[in-house]
Amino acid sequence: MKFLASTLLAAGAYASPPLQPARVLANGTASAQRKFLDLCRNPSVLNTGDLKAPNWVLGADCPDYDDVMRFKAVELDRCIANDNGYLEWGIEGNFSAKCKTCAFQPRLLVWWFDCVCTDKTGREVTHTAPSIDINEHISYNGKNLLCDLE
Ligand SMILES: *[C@@H]1O[C@H](CO)[C@@H](O)[C@H](O)[C@H]1NC(C)=O
Ligand SMILES: *[C@@H]1O[C@H](CO)[C@@H](O)[C@H](O)[C@H]1NC(C)=O
Repeated sequence: MKFLASTLLAAGAYASPPLQPARVLANGTASAQRKFLDLCRNPSVLNTGDLKAPNWVLGADCPDYDDVMRFKAVELDRCIANDNGYLEWGIEGNFSAKCKTCAFQPRLLVWWFDCVCTDKTGREVTHTAPSIDINEHISYNGKNLLCDLE
């Protein structure tokens, strides 16, 4: 699915999607794996590396085994690759090293994730649309955030 940049950048287009409240899970069923935004709140991306060697991490508050919301995180390098300047899902994709200023662009019910990345020649690629719907392949198993790529 592609959007025109003008659509994405239209004023007010970034209304935060209404996140579902944390589901109270009976003890023992918390290990059922679900798409993380079904269970977790306050998704954020942060760089736990530095400007030269970024390490982009997804964090969110998720219901722990005792149903208390706790901060959980997953390194997105486990799940996302840089394909010549464009992000795509990929196990151990290690996109971070070639991407900077990653951010969410929440739009309607989708948390789009995108970064400024360089292509094979080292040139920064301008994207017309964000490519990663972060909920598509990030799950929560009651304990950890994880990539649910096969
Ligand atoms: C719920 O399950 C967790 C993980 O197995 C366990 O540590 C915890 O003691 C359980 N809580 C209750 C109230 O049984
Ligand atoms: C990403 O990094 C891990 C750990 O260093 C490595 O095992 C893996 O092969 C790398 N993946 C790619 C696509 O380079």
